[in-house]
Amino acid sequence: DDSAKAAARLLSWYDRNRRDLPWRAKPGEAVDPYRVWLSEIMLQQTTVPAAAPYFRNFTERWPTVRALAEAPLDDLLVAWAGLGYYARARNLHKCAQAVVSLHDGRFPGDEAALLELPGIGAYTAAAITAIAFARKATVVDGNVERVIARVFAVADPLPNVKPTLRKLAATLTPDERPGDYAQAMMDLGATVCTPRKPKCMLCPWTEFCEARAAGIAETLPRKVAK
Ligand code: ADE
Repeated sequence: DDSAKAAARLLSWYDRNRRDLPWRAKPGEAVDPYRVWLSEIMLQQTTVPAAAPYFRNFTERWPTVRALAEAPLDDLLVAWAGLGYYARARNLHKCAQAVVSLHDGRFPGDEAALLELPGIGAYTAAAITAIAFARKATVVDGNVERVIARVFAVADPLPNVKPTLRKLAATLTPDERPGDYAQAMMDLGATVCTPRKPKCMLCPWTEFCEARAAGIAETLPRKVAK
């Protein structure tokens, strides 16, 4: 069917165009849930280029969740300086300590258990489930919302349309390679299906995209006027 074909196209695009980012395992390398968690927390309110040096510094200094849990909170806050949102850094420390005390230093692999941990919300739980544990989960951030709004030509405005976009995103999520698929969606949104001047000529979904067919890709998603 179309959704299986769309997923296959996107994964094949990702195999050719994936960004080599410091938190991504190289093809064939084992994925470390600690690194996935840390990167997803950093990326929640920070761009990829801004987060990368912080991610390198943190993982060099604290290579495991146990090391991070045992670090003095002040060291963590100093290392976090510049990323902003210090509540996130405090929750990072609390979460590392919870993983050590409740789960013996290993991140749990299901969304419900992840959601119990400090600082882990629906987005982060889904991202860790898919990327670190290769289990199916629908990962929806702002990039993914834009891609989905365009593929299905959803003209209703954000933020109310979010649940609809999430449901549509779930219909496309494949059983195979859920982590690669999630990161492929993010990469597609960041590099091809961009807010302005989307590069539809380079898009693996150009033939399925309803907004492209209607000539309205750049106008989506709409937002309620402020
Ligand atoms: N933004 C949030 N998570 C990301 C990831 N894993 N790769 C690229 N961009 C992201």
